[in-house]
Amino acid sequence: MATAQKRVVHYTVNGRPYEAYIEPNRTLLEVVRDELRLTGAKEGCGTGDCGACSMIVNGRLVTSCLMLAPQADGAEITTIEGLAQDSRLHPVQQAFIEKGAVQCGFCIPGMILAGKALLDRNPHPTEREIREAIAGNLCRCTGYTKMVEAIAAAAEATT
Ligand code: FES
Ligand code: FES
Repeated sequence: MATAQKRVVHYTVNGRPYEAYIEPNRTLLEVVRDELRLTGAKEGCGTGDCGACSMIVNGRLVTSCLMLAPQADGAEITTIEGLAQDSRLHPVQQAFIEKGAVQCGFCIPGMILAGKALLDRNPHPTEREIREAIAGNLCRCTGYTKMVEAIAAAAEATT
């Protein structure tokens, strides 16, 4: 069976330029994890249902398991590795720790990026808006309440 011809893609990930030479049928999640070696985003379901693979691509939260890597060519991408700045955690990360909103951790990179994406577009969300913003991110451990509180606390901390 013929293999797809490889091509070069360019991304800016967490402010740094990257280039990868890849088969065009690979997902953004695979390329970011396997080629760029940024393994914070996780593969949970692989079908767009769990949010563990969430990244922010050109300002929009996406499930990177559903995006083909060439679709993001030229994009600005933020992964969980890019949130802390100068050894300071992002307010959403800090609030997740302070509120005890982390258990096994598998969903946490995606959940925190969902919170960040929300606060970037809506700095003062209601509880309902927070719950809607993380509705695509599944967590088997926490029951969500502490996560919602953490995102609300991060909103408070940044105003
Ligand atoms: S791994 Fe992408 S949504 Fe579950
Ligand atoms: S903390 Fe375990 S799945 Fe969310």
